Amino acid sequence: MTDVHANNQDFTRYDQVKKSHTYRLAEHEDDEFDEDFEIAALDFAQFRNGNAADKANFADAFGAAVQEIGFSVLTGHGVDTQLYDEMQDLVIEFFESQSLEQKMRFRAERQGSVNQGYFPIEETSDIHPDQVEGWVFCRRAFNLDGESGHPVDRFWPDAKFEAKFRRLVVSHEQLFKPIAQAMFQSLGCDPHVYDQKLTRTNFGLRLNYYPPLNDAQVDAGAGRLLGHEDVDLFTLLPAPRDDGLQVWNHHSNKWVRLQAPPGSLIINTGDYMQRISNDRLPSTTHRVGNAPDGSQSVAPRISFPMAVYVWEDEVLEVLPGLGEPKYPPIKAINFHTRSTSKFYGDDYAVES
Ligand SMILES: [Fe+2]
Repeated sequence: MTDVHANNQDFTRYDQVKKSHTYRLAEHEDDEFDEDFEIAALDFAQFRNGNAADKANFADAFGAAVQEIGFSVLTGHGVDTQLYDEMQDLVIEFFESQSLEQKMRFRAERQGSVNQGYFPIEETSDIHPDQVEGWVFCRRAFNLDGESGHPVDRFWPDAKFEAKFRRLVVSHEQLFKPIAQAMFQSLGCDPHVYDQKLTRTNFGLRLNYYPPLNDAQVDAGAGRLLGHEDVDLFTLLPAPRDDGLQVWNHHSNKWVRLQAPPGSLIINTGDYMQRISNDRLPSTTHRVGNAPDGSQSVAPRISFPMAVYVWEDEVLEVLPGLGEPKYPPIKAINFHTRSTSKFYGDDYAVES
């Protein structure tokens, strides 16, 4: 089913955490926007380089932002912002330098939990015709752990792209544990409770290329990316150059347009984190709609979010000290694939 008028409640049977709100997958003229809400921007250097009091202060502010809306914007993250500019251009080159036939040789298929590879336009999911081309790479696609004979050709049309995108992955990987530590500290949990699980852990780097839309495409109402929640622990999204990202405010039941400063890093929590935090840190709905300045008709929009997972055999269990668990423990591969079979078909779920 690819219905531009569908809403999330048509698919609740796939949810592995509680999601009781209702929203349209695509932007609609009746949608309401929360123009007053500002998503918190915080200086992560306070946590990365600070003393115990600095870390505690940051964790409090970060935890409050994430509990309130599931999103926060970080400056002081330590990643060279020049790298983000280079990645923006590289994503454009990556998509525009290949023919559709070349891209289709890498059509997405499940690698462990992650649906990895190329997603043609209107085929990011089975449930909605999103106006985006995407390409996902998980850890297996990168030559990261000194393995000899890494099969770069299996996942990449040209090895030069693996080497270039690996720089982004290496930079972001250094942030996985500090971000998780700040979240866990904010909940009063052991900040290091996931350090081992996050050591050389799996992730999904998704490259998004949203081509400019003609009037007929805009009028058709599909929009650029359907409303969804990320399945992961959390996502690192370098601030996109172009507007369009919308975030659901579960207090006002309105959408918030997220505009983050250039060079900042947007962080949002996903289903894994909602599950292990016993619903304290929400997996927040977001989508890409039309930009107020009309830029969707003019130029491609680029984004390159990186989703942080745990490996398939790990167990997701409500952390100690967070009250009576609302959820039983579950193996990550079952949790991940049951949830994302919403997008990829019932056969995607792994039950063993
Ligand atoms: Fe997302």
